[in-house]
Amino acid sequence: MKKIKKRLGGFICVLIGLGLIMVVLIFALSETKSNRSFNLPIEQMSVPTDIAAINEGKRLVTFRGCTECHKPNLGGGEFINAPIGKIDAPNLTRGKGGLMNFTDADYTRAIRHGVSKDGRGLWIMPADDYKSMSDADVGKIIAYIKNIPAVDNEASTRQLTLLGRALVAFGQIPLISADRIDHTVKAPAMVDITVSVESGKYLADTCQGCHNPRFSGGSVPGAAPNAPLAANLTPAGNLKNWNEAQFIAVMRTGKTPEGKQIDPQNMPWSSFALMKDDEIKAIFMYLKTLPPTATSTR
Ligand code: HEC
Ligand code: HEC
Repeated sequence: MKKIKKRLGGFICVLIGLGLIMVVLIFALSETKSNRSFNLPIEQMSVPTDIAAINEGKRLVTFRGCTECHKPNLGGGEFINAPIGKIDAPNLTRGKGGLMNFTDADYTRAIRHGVSKDGRGLWIMPADDYKSMSDADVGKIIAYIKNIPAVDNEASTRQLTLLGRALVAFGQIPLISADRIDHTVKAPAMVDITVSVESGKYLADTCQGCHNPRFSGGSVPGAAPNAPLAANLTPAGNLKNWNEAQFIAVMRTGKTPEGKQIDPQNMPWSSFALMKDDEIKAIFMYLKTLPPTATSTR
């Protein structure tokens, strides 16, 4: 009996030891992965100052999804509060807690490369959705951000729990978009939107963060565990049965031909409603050209 107890004690000690080593490893790995620095050359951006450009910047900031995370007044706030941790989307205004002394190049680095002023890879900020956005569009977005009223809000929480760290350490949470971006590829100077596959591809970058780069759907990064998976937008999904008018209706009202009412919390159609008909038509045209791909289930 004594012998067994001794052995069991030894076994438990080994287990605890292994557990501790695991925790240390998770901390070390997640620290390295979450604190990566990027040394990028300064990218000059010409930022317009006319009212028409600023208004177009507001429309872009909305349908490109910035306001989903940084809030409608861009004053920032809680974005993730989940078992993996707490992450705020920062205040982008010039108010207290906001982006003071940001140059046009600093905004550009954050939006297109997912890298902060001091070279840190930004968490969650989906720069891979914006890396190909034209100079003209990024310029208008910056013009709008520089002209919005200042909001005082110190939204700067950035914490991972042990679970969050483990998922980051083992590559299960794509925390830093800068890791996935080829920073040497240049974005176009300007894209004229027409009802074409090319324009559709350009605009559909906004959908990839949730519907995944193959558009086959799956879990939405940062969404609650019980939130619905993003739908398959390739011709293997429901879209194969829809016509253009039905697709436009889904993007403006969230109501699908199958009779589902999509909650704008899960799929931000209320922001997409600001897209012009031609923009939505172009996206539909592009999605039709995708190879049918099996629906992602995670
Ligand atoms: C899915 C949520 C999400 C979306 C969408 C999003 N952001 Fe962010 N953004 C974040 C988070 C979170 C951070 C802070 C990350 C950090 O500090 O590590 C951030 C950081 C930034 C920063 C850098 C702030 C700094 O301190 O360096 C800028 C600028 C910015 N976002 C602008 C934008 C713009 C413009 C858009 C739309 C084109 C946008 N973001 C879309 C979540 C988002
Ligand atoms: C923030 C995440 C997110 C973004 C960004 C997003 N979607 Fe979605 N989308 C979802 C989710 C989640 C669903 C499933 C909703 C449900 O089942 O209730 C969905 C469903 C859809 C549907 C319904 C499909 C069906 O079979 O019923 C369409 C169409 C759609 N999205 C198109 C788009 C397009 C086009 C874009 C880009 C302009 C886009 N989405 C961007 C999350 C997103």
